[in-house]
Amino acid sequence: MTASATGTATGLRLHAPAPGWSIDADVVIVGSGVAGLTAALRCTAAGLSTVVVTKARLDDGSTRWAQGGIAAALGEGDTPEQHLDDTLVAGAGLCDESAVRALVTEGPGAVRRLIATGAHFDTDDSGAISLTREGGHHRRRIAHAGGDATGAEVSRALVETVRAAALHTIENALVLDLLRDTQGRTAGVTLHVMGEGQHDGVGAVRAPAVVLATGGMGQVFSATTNPSVSTGDGVALALRAGAEISDLEFVQFHPTVLFLGADSEGQQPLVSEAVRGEGAHLIDATGKRFMLGRHELAELAPRDIVAKAITRQMQAQGAEHMYLDARHFGAHMWEQRFPTILAACRSHGIDPVTEPIPIFPAAHHASGGVRTDPHGRTTVPGLYACGEAACTGVHGANRLASNSLLEGLVFAKRIAQDIAATPHARPEPVIPEGTVLPLLAPEARHSIQRIMTKGAGVVRSSASLAEAAAHLEALRVDADTDIPDDRKPAVPGVEAWEATNLLCVARALIAAAQRREETRGCHWREDHPDRDDAHWQRHLVVRLQPDHSLTLHTTDTTEFPPTLPSLLQER
Ligand code: SIN
Repeated sequence: MTASATGTATGLRLHAPAPGWSIDADVVIVGSGVAGLTAALRCTAAGLSTVVVTKARLDDGSTRWAQGGIAAALGEGDTPEQHLDDTLVAGAGLCDESAVRALVTEGPGAVRRLIATGAHFDTDDSGAISLTREGGHHRRRIAHAGGDATGAEVSRALVETVRAAALHTIENALVLDLLRDTQGRTAGVTLHVMGEGQHDGVGAVRAPAVVLATGGMGQVFSATTNPSVSTGDGVALALRAGAEISDLEFVQFHPTVLFLGADSEGQQPLVSEAVRGEGAHLIDATGKRFMLGRHELAELAPRDIVAKAITRQMQAQGAEHMYLDARHFGAHMWEQRFPTILAACRSHGIDPVTEPIPIFPAAHHASGGVRTDPHGRTTVPGLYACGEAACTGVHGANRLASNSLLEGLVFAKRIAQDIAATPHARPEPVIPEGTVLPLLAPEARHSIQRIMTKGAGVVRSSASLAEAAAHLEALRVDADTDIPDDRKPAVPGVEAWEATNLLCVARALIAAAQRREETRGCHWREDHPDRDDAHWQRHLVVRLQPDHSLTLHTTDTTEFPPTLPSLLQER
C-alpha cells in the first residue's frame, strides 16, 4: 500500500504486520505445482510480467508426489468422448459437462506440450507412450514417468524450464490475504517471506490478476497423502476475500495408503492405484478378494467405491487395515514399474515382493475448491483459481484418477489466455479495513486434524458432523476471546497462520457436509445412505461473511460453472 492510497477495502483478513516492502507485476501466481508453473510459463510467454510465490521450494508441493500419472486419450482406439464418459460416471452426477469436455479434448495436446517442455514419459518398445489403467477408467489411458514417479518428473521439467527462463520466483513465501482497489477488484496479495534478503518478512506483490494454485487441503485430516504444505491456504484466502467456494464436502480418500499404525499422522506413503491397474488384488486378513461381486470393475471401480468397500470391510472385521496383494508381480516388475513404492514399503519393513501390503484409506484430494468459470475466473474480479485449489466443475462428486495433473495443465492455459486477452492497468491497492481474524496457536493444527478425522472422515453422520462443528466453533471462539498470553501465539508466524487457515477451511467443509443430506461420490453419510437426485443433484456453495459466519446456497448443475464477468475489466 502506498501513501497515495485513497480508500479502504473491507473484508476479513489474517492478523499480520503491515507490508514492509512491495513489488509490482501484471500477474502473481500463488503456488508452484503443475497448475502454478504452467500458468506462470504461459503468462510469461504472453508477455505478462509474472511473479510466482510459493510456500516452500519450487518443487515442494503436491505435484511432486503424484505417482500414477496423467490421464488423456492418447492410446489407439481411445477418444476424448470415452474419457468424458468415465469422468462423468466417477463424478456421480455433479460434473459440469462443458468443463469436462474442455479437459478431455484439450488434454492430449496439453500432454504433448508438456513433453515438448522436456518431461520424459515412459515409452514402450515402439517408442509410443506407455499407458496404464486406474480406477474408473475403462481403458489404458494413464501416461506415467519413471514407473511410478510421474509427478516428480512433471515437476522437474517445469521447475527447470521456469529456472531457465529466469522467471521471478519468491520461495518460502506464505500468501496471507488478497489486496483490493477501491472498486473491490483484485490488486495483489500480501505475503510473508522467510529469509529471502530483499524480500523478507511481510510484503506485498501488487498485480491486477492473482492466480491461486495453492494445491489441496489434505492436512486438515490426521492422515493424508498430501505434503505438510497442503493447508488450504488458497481456499482460506478466497473465503476471507468473499469468494464463492463449492463442493468442499467431496474429499477424496485414496483407498490404498500404506498403513503405518493407527496413530501415524501427517503425510503417509501412497500406493498408487496403478498397482491395481497392473493387476494387484485387495484382500482381507484371510486372503479373500472382497471387491469381487461388488462392482463390475472389481478393484478398479471408481475410487469412492473402493474406499467405501475397504472401510466397510474394516468395520465388519474390526480391522485397522486391509491388504493389497501384488506378490505375483515378482521382483523384476516391482523394481521396473513401481520403484518408488517398492522403496517406500521396504523402508517401512514391508516387502511387497513377498508379502501383501497393509493399506487403508486416507485423505487425498479435494474435489471442491474456489468456484470458477471455464476460464478459471472466480467470483472476485481479478482473482483466478487453478488446480486442486479450484472447483472448475470437472471432478463433480468424485475425481476420476489421474485427472488432476491434466486439469492443472488445461485450465492454467485457459487462465493465461484470459489474463493476456484482457486489458489491465497497474492497480492501486487500498489500505485494508475490516475484521482481523484472531490467530490460532500452532498446536491447534493437531486438534483440528483429530476433530476432522473423527467427524468428517470416510464415513460421516449428522451426529459426527455436529460434534466436529461444535469443537471447531470452540477453537474459533477461544482464539477470539481474551485469553492469557501464554496460550496465544506470541507473534503471527507461519504455523499460526497455517492453523488459522486450516480452521477456516475445516469450518466450511463441515458446514457443507452437514447440509448435504445424501450419499454421493466421496461424501458418505451413513444416516442418509442413498443418492438423492431429487433434492441434491446440486452444488453447495459456501461463503464466509464479515462476522465470521458461513452462508450456504445451492446451485443447479446447469448453472455451473457460471459465465462470470470479465474480471480484469478496464480500470
Ligand atoms: C495414484 O497414483 O493412485 C494417484 C493418482 C491420482 O490421485 O490421480
